[in-house]
Amino acid sequence: MIGTAARVGVFTESVIREMTRLAAEHDGVNLAQGFPDFPAPAELLEAAARALREGYNQYAITWGAPNFRRALAEKVRWFNGITVDPERNITVTCGATEAMMATLLATVNAGEEVIVFEPFYENYGPDAKLSGAVPRFVPIRLEPGFPFDPDQVRAAVTPKTRAIVVNTPHNPTGKVFTRPELEFIAELCHRHDLLAITDEVYEHIIYDGQAHTTLASLPGMLERTVIVNSLSKSYSVTGWRVGWTIAPAAIADGIRKVHDFLTVGAAAPLQEAGVTALGFPRQYYTDLAAMYQRKRDTLLGILQEAGFACLAPSGAYYIICSPSGRRPSTRSAGVCGACARAPASQQRSPLRGLQTKLGPTASRGCPLPAPQSPVRPPLVRLGTVGGGPSGERPPSSDGPRVPCNVAPCGDSKPSGGRRQAEVAPYADSKPS
Ligand SMILES: Cc1ncc(COP(=O)(O)O)c(C=O)c1O
Repeated sequence: MIGTAARVGVFTESVIREMTRLAAEHDGVNLAQGFPDFPAPAELLEAAARALREGYNQYAITWGAPNFRRALAEKVRWFNGITVDPERNITVTCGATEAMMATLLATVNAGEEVIVFEPFYENYGPDAKLSGAVPRFVPIRLEPGFPFDPDQVRAAVTPKTRAIVVNTPHNPTGKVFTRPELEFIAELCHRHDLLAITDEVYEHIIYDGQAHTTLASLPGMLERTVIVNSLSKSYSVTGWRVGWTIAPAAIADGIRKVHDFLTVGAAAPLQEAGVTALGFPRQYYTDLAAMYQRKRDTLLGILQEAGFACLAPSGAYYIICSPSGRRPSTRSAGVCGACARAPASQQRSPLRGLQTKLGPTASRGCPLPAPQSPVRPPLVRLGTVGGGPSGERPPSSDGPRVPCNVAPCGDSKPSGGRRQAEVAPYADSKPS
């Protein structure tokens, strides 16, 4: 019988993306995948339309349109404090997703080990499996600040260790790695000649006046770090699939080779439009962070009022919480009452706290049923965090907006529109 290769049998389909499909199929509340449902910045949409009209419709240079790479180099200069050569260091990919996969394929030999903090963004498991890397997990403790034990990181290093993945701000905890933590990781990389792979897609979604530090900006780290990032979260365009790596030239050469044969290139007109995004003034980022902080604060209050014990995130758009009312822990059970189906993680994942995303839920109007309909607590309250960066809603063709019936919302939802909110199980496809 014709079957699939063994490599696709060792990981599962993405749970959050499966939940998105099921929610759509069953008109369920989507508590899964993280994407904004307020409009992307109008200037960006205009730039994309212009790029299409102006003829950016054929392949861009494989490793990225020169304009876009130049704009990226300028952006990371002022924001991340690093100087990179757009000709030698930057590779434009189809989202951070391809960037991570291409990086692992280009840098890690089968059987070599990669240190990953746990819990982790679910893609890292399959990424490791597909690239032949062996993940070595180091726990992040589920307590305020989400600390890790440096001794456990040291103990995870073996002669086979090739790289360490650092995702800050972190999915799913919302941890923002502190400077001393990053210095510790940098020292470890120098001592053991490790590569750092930093996933920084949430670098602009950060709260309480904290600052994002890019590991590559620490002394000597630019030469041993691959930065993975994308337009998706910072510019609310997750569907554009434009990302990049920034890597030392020799590593960038390898990533470019892999990338060329994986996808050839990211969408040319959207790279051109991305130049506009990267040129946004600093105030744009301040407003973005402030908007998500409002959502975080509102949603934390709602979850706590509903009996969830939560750990406040410092960045990214997730909240780790436990319905037991006890602080989330690797042992606390989470029950998602509003998904299209019960999260499979209840059976399969050792960490069963809930991961609640602040993006879509928060912004697509109130997810409550119209006033006459029954209300399902507590997740019905998840949509009371509304508004895009300037409080705007997506244009709705779902009919007139009706008042929400649950305090303290006072919000409105499109009558007959789909309820939408997000709670996703943690890292369900973690490699076994
Ligand atoms: C930590 C992390 N990295 C990468 C991605 C994917 O980014 P992209 O849309 O650029 O592929 C996500 C998406 O949720 C994420 O949470």
